[in-house]
Amino acid sequence: MTQEPELDVLLETERTFPPPPAFADAALYNDPGVYERAAADPESWWAGWAEELDWIEPFEQVLDWSDPPHAKWFTGGRINVSANCLDRHVEAGNGQRIAFYWEAEDADQAGPEGRKEITYAWLLDQTQRFANVLRGLGVGKGDVVGIFMPMLPEAAVAMLACTRIGAVHNVVFGGFSAESVKERMEVSEAKVLVTADATLRRGNPVPMKSQIDSALDELPVMKHVVVVDRCGTGPPMKEGRDLDWAGAVATADPVCPPEPMDAEDPLYLLYTSGSTAKPKGIVHTTAGYLTHVTATHRMVFDLKDDDVYWCAADIGWVTGHSYIVYGPLANGATSIMYEGAPDYPEKDRWWEIVERYRASILYTAPTAIRSFMKWGDEYPGRHDLSSLRLLGSVGEPINPRAWLWYHEKIGGSRCPIVDTWWQTETGGIMISPLPGLTTTKPGSATVPLPGIEAAILDSEDKVVKVGAGTLVLTKPWPGMARTLYREPDRFVETYWDRYGRDTYLVGDAARWDEDGYIWIVGRIDDVINVSGHRLSTMEVESALVSHPSVAEAAVIGVNDEDTGQAIVAFVTPRDGVEDGPELTAELRQHVADRIGKLARPRKTCFASDLPKTRSGKIMRRLLRDIAAGKDLGDVSTLRDPGVVDSLSEQINRDQ
Ligand code: PRX
Repeated sequence: MTQEPELDVLLETERTFPPPPAFADAALYNDPGVYERAAADPESWWAGWAEELDWIEPFEQVLDWSDPPHAKWFTGGRINVSANCLDRHVEAGNGQRIAFYWEAEDADQAGPEGRKEITYAWLLDQTQRFANVLRGLGVGKGDVVGIFMPMLPEAAVAMLACTRIGAVHNVVFGGFSAESVKERMEVSEAKVLVTADATLRRGNPVPMKSQIDSALDELPVMKHVVVVDRCGTGPPMKEGRDLDWAGAVATADPVCPPEPMDAEDPLYLLYTSGSTAKPKGIVHTTAGYLTHVTATHRMVFDLKDDDVYWCAADIGWVTGHSYIVYGPLANGATSIMYEGAPDYPEKDRWWEIVERYRASILYTAPTAIRSFMKWGDEYPGRHDLSSLRLLGSVGEPINPRAWLWYHEKIGGSRCPIVDTWWQTETGGIMISPLPGLTTTKPGSATVPLPGIEAAILDSEDKVVKVGAGTLVLTKPWPGMARTLYREPDRFVETYWDRYGRDTYLVGDAARWDEDGYIWIVGRIDDVINVSGHRLSTMEVESALVSHPSVAEAAVIGVNDEDTGQAIVAFVTPRDGVEDGPELTAELRQHVADRIGKLARPRKTCFASDLPKTRSGKIMRRLLRDIAAGKDLGDVSTLRDPGVVDSLSEQINRDQ
């Protein structure tokens, strides 16, 4: 990549990008009146979307907001999510339509098994069978099922099978450690875990089942483990507890009628990081969530029948839940699901996939875009990407340079980019362009979607018209999290107490510009966003201090060109422990074991004490300034001003 001077990029980002006229003409939404109509009556706007779903019993009331922040959407209605994602398409004669083009990482070596065309009929059959397997294992309505899986069609089947019988899934991202899986299973009291023997990563099987085996032994409530044989590694199977997916599904009853679920029954749990060491179990419910993801998937991606849509996220994050599984399947879309690494066997793998399946919509994260940009233009340049007509971004602010590269090198300067802002808690997209309507500005997620209302508040809680402040959402929306699993008070305190229970505190700082566009500035809490993955400083700190050599640790996020933010750790070793590269490596491994590789500090600095006020509070702001190489000003009020020099020296040494 040639480094353009930042000034050029700044000037260039004053450029705006109206929807190309041909795109706008053909778009599902090209009448600006949609915003006004939705704002005039948000409930009937959302009801219109809900009515497009198949209901077992129609809802009586659109929204019950009589006891904020406890929203109830579509009360009185009964519905089943899997029936909406599968049965209705099959019943409409679309059973042979492809739901997923699944591509194995080793597709070229694996023969017919390496590239599968997963139809809606196949998904329905497997879902019913696996739902019956779960029932046979004693799983009933409201029971929690853990899912710890690679990017396989079986992961989607497992999720849909839960929804079929009213079980609540709790998916843990496949890159998390055994400790994290154990913690999430323990707190949610999962009865069954669905996993795979191993996942393929850059050509090698990385164990999953055997990696978590010893953790599973410590979970008394966990009765069964179902194992998909992905890599043929033959992990040890515990008699009476563990069973093989293929054998169980093959012999299962192929008919499992969908369970009529109340609109507000829980659909799934998904743990995400907050500002404490303990992850939050976000609870999403049935009908509101399904309505929100169906509507936003269709509107934001301008979804048409002949689109081939590719959301390149992992199923283990909320993006995978909402925009690989539920939104696209409810809309009857044809998607791509790719199992492996973007640079295997070569750095053009994604572009080969786009070309092979003639992908028309690509949805990914800025961190991936920045990697591709670094690898060089030659990789996308090798392939015909002319099938693409729309690009999406999610997970963190996209810097204008990456936006422009994505637009030009991937989108051939012809595809609109939808920069979609949302969170695990919001369930679906909240702030985003509509590609046939919105003139985009690189780096801005633009404006709230129809039916969504946001505001920015200043330090005196006053509404900001132009300028920066704290982002809040001022109207309930159907996909909103309903509570935190088994922590209802924490839900209210974290999101709703600050501004009076009917206003949702997002946790992001943002700015309205003079055209009414929203620019997300970053988090206002102790959440770090590494490659679009959310981590809390305290989670990483508690992992560090659980190492026997560590007396104290503080962690901060610093800006990073590749990963958005990166973790810097400041560590005080215990007396008599020698610091240095060996301890750094050991601590990185320890954090990988406790949380997962993504939480490993990029850099670790050691000091005999951390900078503290005289009352003993760690001065994080000062640590941030040290890491950023800023002038520290007067540090004489610190308990031990000398530590600052030592830490600054370490930061500067390796820069
Ligand atoms: O800070 C915002 C950032 O990611 C946070 C939500 O993280 P998570 O719950 O893991 O969900 C990620 C996928 C939806 C937000 O509070 N974020 C997400 N999307 C954007 C973003 N920041 C700026 N622009 C975005 N498009």
